[in-house]
Amino acid sequence: MPPSSAVALRGMALYPGWLDRPAQEALVADLRAVIAAAPLFAPHTRWGKPMSVRMTAAGRFGWYSDRRGYRYIDHHPGGGPWPPIPDRVLALWRALSGASRDPECCLLNWYGPDARMGLHQDRDEADFTQPVLSVSLGDDGLFRVGNQERGGPTESVWLRSGDVLVMGGAARLLHHGIDRIAPGTSTLLPAPGRINLTLRVVT
Ligand code: SIN
Ligand code: MN
Repeated sequence: MPPSSAVALRGMALYPGWLDRPAQEALVADLRAVIAAAPLFAPHTRWGKPMSVRMTAAGRFGWYSDRRGYRYIDHHPGGGPWPPIPDRVLALWRALSGASRDPECCLLNWYGPDARMGLHQDRDEADFTQPVLSVSLGDDGLFRVGNQERGGPTESVWLRSGDVLVMGGAARLLHHGIDRIAPGTSTLLPAPGRINLTLRVVT
């Protein structure tokens, strides 16, 4: 796999097409096993509204949200353990994150054709010196990145299947979100939709 060079996006490092098609297919097979062990669920916002993105996780922790707020929990909301992070996913982290520690959470977000994710910061982790690494699979997603403070100008880029994005250093706490996906732009998944993985050190 020829390493593509990183493109800077407000201090984030974007690796367009880092994963070729066979690597994407292998990852999807790993993720099917994760979803079989830890089914997707729809978290609720603090305000009690179900999110349009469905989620699950692998690793020591998964992210969870309800009226009590946003937090990491050490078991699936159904009661069972989170499955281990697949080796292929760990290898990506070790190759691209530049982090000193291994991830403790691989959050899996599933976007159906109408799902989106509002601008937010990833700040439920204890150590902001550790980056967040994101992997996009399936249909294109319109990623918006803003500033550390709320408001101000933003930039948007389409994240495509196989793209990897590292949010680290000064970019670790930038606001970001997904405005929409473009259903049918990828043939990787059997139905329209997008999978995003984010790998995080939690503690
Ligand atoms: C996230 O911020 O958790 C997900 C971003 C994405 O779906 O690309
Ligand atoms: Mn995020």
